[in-house]
Amino acid sequence: MARVSVFGLGYVGAVTAACLADAGHEVVGVDVNPVKVDMMESGRAPVLEPRLEGLVEKGRRACRLRATTNASSAVHESDVSFICVGTPSLHSGRLDLSSVARSCEAIGDALRPKKEFHWVVTRSTVLPGTAKSMIIPTIEAASEKRAGVDFAVCSNPEFTREGCAVADFLNPAITVLGADDPLHLVPLRDLYGKTSGQVFETSLGVAEMVKYVCNAFHALKVTFTNEIASLCSQLDVDARAVTRVFTADTKLNISKAYLDPGFAFGGSCLPKDVRALAYCGKQLDLDLPLLRAILPSNQAHLERAVEAVLATKRKRIGVLGLSFKPGTDDLRESPSVQLIKRLLGEGCDVQVWDKDVSLGRLAGSNRQFIQDEIPHIGARLSTDLESVVSQSEIVVVGTNSLNDEALLATVRPDQLIIDLRAPLPRAASVGTAADHMPGVYQPALSMRQ
Ligand SMILES: NC(=O)c1ccc[n+]([C@@H]2O[C@H](COP(=O)([O-])OP(=O)(O)OC[C@H]3O[C@@H](n4cnc5c(N)ncnc54)[C@H](O)[C@@H]3O)[C@@H](O)[C@H]2O)c1
Repeated sequence: MARVSVFGLGYVGAVTAACLADAGHEVVGVDVNPVKVDMMESGRAPVLEPRLEGLVEKGRRACRLRATTNASSAVHESDVSFICVGTPSLHSGRLDLSSVARSCEAIGDALRPKKEFHWVVTRSTVLPGTAKSMIIPTIEAASEKRAGVDFAVCSNPEFTREGCAVADFLNPAITVLGADDPLHLVPLRDLYGKTSGQVFETSLGVAEMVKYVCNAFHALKVTFTNEIASLCSQLDVDARAVTRVFTADTKLNISKAYLDPGFAFGGSCLPKDVRALAYCGKQLDLDLPLLRAILPSNQAHLERAVEAVLATKRKRIGVLGLSFKPGTDDLRESPSVQLIKRLLGEGCDVQVWDKDVSLGRLAGSNRQFIQDEIPHIGARLSTDLESVVSQSEIVVVGTNSLNDEALLATVRPDQLIIDLRAPLPRAASVGTAADHMPGVYQPALSMRQ
């Protein structure tokens, strides 16, 4: 069984401490607030949360749970310290990390004379990079010890909801364990060995980011549903009935569909229908900022691709993919068409490859669209991949219809690839080589930062 200290006895820390004690670990809670410490010491829950009081009382009786204001003794009596202190917003929206910094200083001070290796695990919600830029340096400065040598810093974000936090802790959907050296996760693997749900071992940055992505997505879902419900109400449509049908589609709606990072959306339906809904709201005098923001956000994503190309200062561009998605020759509102139009407007010489698009076959509104958007597209379009790539200084990949092997077989080391299909971390695209594509620079992979 592990020896654990938990810094911060609020909603997250009190639940973490009580649940770990209930699982048989030896837990000491630390808080700067003596009232919370006294409550836990006397077997009462320091925050109101269903089932918590019972677990605290049980932990106290079993002598597996205690609390103190003395950070140093807690660090010395434990091997793993969880940081669960608050990270509120400052007036500007910036995160207030002062409690995290003070916890790190206290842990670092306590580590100075400590001989044994120690693990520090961030459970507080902090932005990606905080472990490296603030938590590790603060502990190193206070302890005069080295991260990775004398202590390890891990990230284990908290996904519980107030009101059912104990139940969520005991039955999580996911558990995320982040560290830049997988060996640092050994005690966390033991602590969470019996947990239900999927356990993800990942880097510090991914673990820190996942928490924000979850909360941003939850907030997005609420506001989206409320805007739709407001629109329904004005249109005299039953919003609950709409939601019931909408959520029943687990293939496209409540699913992983459309959640792969990639290029902007387009096509004959999504832009048109989003535009119509936003306009409908406007006519009804209904403010729907989220729905109104969808097309500008998509346009901003497209502009980042344009900027990535222009930043290279190279003019001969090969764009791979013209239709709005693989397997179709529908060009209407294709983001590639918009990209090409923008690049031509900036004086670039653009050649285009798309295996599915043959101008002779296009008809109706599709043909009209491309003729209106790029009148001389015929002279630029080819189904010969090698010929388009060989003439280009930059190859812009905007289609999933081409796999990496086929791409790598055609590009030369002196060419640049801008891959709009899958962004890589910025570090992977800096320099002249990305690991999986030797000799090829991929500037656009950083454009989503
Ligand atoms: N509340 C939630 O449901 C929830 C869920 C997931 C993640 N989180 C995140 O977890 C973190 C904690 O949230 P919370 O709601 O438990 O906060 P909270 O405000 O309820 O509790 C924070 C506790 O930390 C204590 N504290 C402050 N500085 C300290 C220090 N230097 N040493 C020891 N204790 C100190 C405070 O006295 C307080 O008791 C935040 O980053 C939050 O965003 C919260």
